[in-house]
Amino acid sequence: MRIDIITIFPDYFAPLDLSLIGKARASGLLDIRMHDLRSWTHDRHNTVDDTPYGGGPGMVMKPEPWGEALDAVTADAGPNVPRLILPTPSGVPFTQERADRLSAEPWLVFACGRYEGIDSRVAAYAAQQMPVEELSIGDYVLAGGESATLVIVEAVARLLPGVLGNAESAAQDSFAPGAMENLVEGPVYTKPVLWRGQEVPSVLLSGNHGAVERWRRDEALRKTARNRPELMAAIPADHLDRRDQEVIREARLQTGPESMAD
Ligand code: ADE
Repeated sequence: MRIDIITIFPDYFAPLDLSLIGKARASGLLDIRMHDLRSWTHDRHNTVDDTPYGGGPGMVMKPEPWGEALDAVTADAGPNVPRLILPTPSGVPFTQERADRLSAEPWLVFACGRYEGIDSRVAAYAAQQMPVEELSIGDYVLAGGESATLVIVEAVARLLPGVLGNAESAAQDSFAPGAMENLVEGPVYTKPVLWRGQEVPSVLLSGNHGAVERWRRDEALRKTARNRPELMAAIPADHLDRRDQEVIREARLQTGPESMAD
């Protein structure tokens, strides 16, 4: 997969040299190219922002450098246009399902806005040339799209074949399509069996795979009930067996039906 990132802070992306993504880049699985937006400015101060029409606080990113940057980065596209990702708090929620779909794309371009955002004509112009997605990584406002881009790139890149050491682990993630409904993952343990007075649950040492699977599902149900009641409420009743329903009932009794996320 090829990824181009356009930003006024190329240094922000140093983490993409590390760990799994660094290795994927070194091996050629991932071709990530950084571009400094200011290289498409033409004034002495390399200006990328200006005051908003209509008034209001803050500054808006000027369209001209963005237009030139997108033209230059996609110049060698031919018929294979990239998908443009615009991270913004006003975008569509970024989810594991969307990460999965993006991981099947051959080429992504990220445009990292700062200040109050990019002049809206840039997205409209880009949409005439390529598919465009505005994505939000959560209901909070970051200082710019750079950290959101890091999040999206990591979530997408780890799904590429050959990037994770163990292909199974992506399939078993919380929220993975086809994973245990939409349950979050329960607790995990490794050696030693006894640590600071705490023992690993004995079922995990039993060698009884059926019992281990049942215990993992119980724990996933408990944690989902506690931390993500809205996910629990969305599970169709016919996806829950009698044991599931018993575990959920107990979890509700322990925390109270209204206060589970508090
Ligand atoms: N830029 C600023 N806040 C953001 C958010 N929550 N998601 C994506 N991009 C952003």
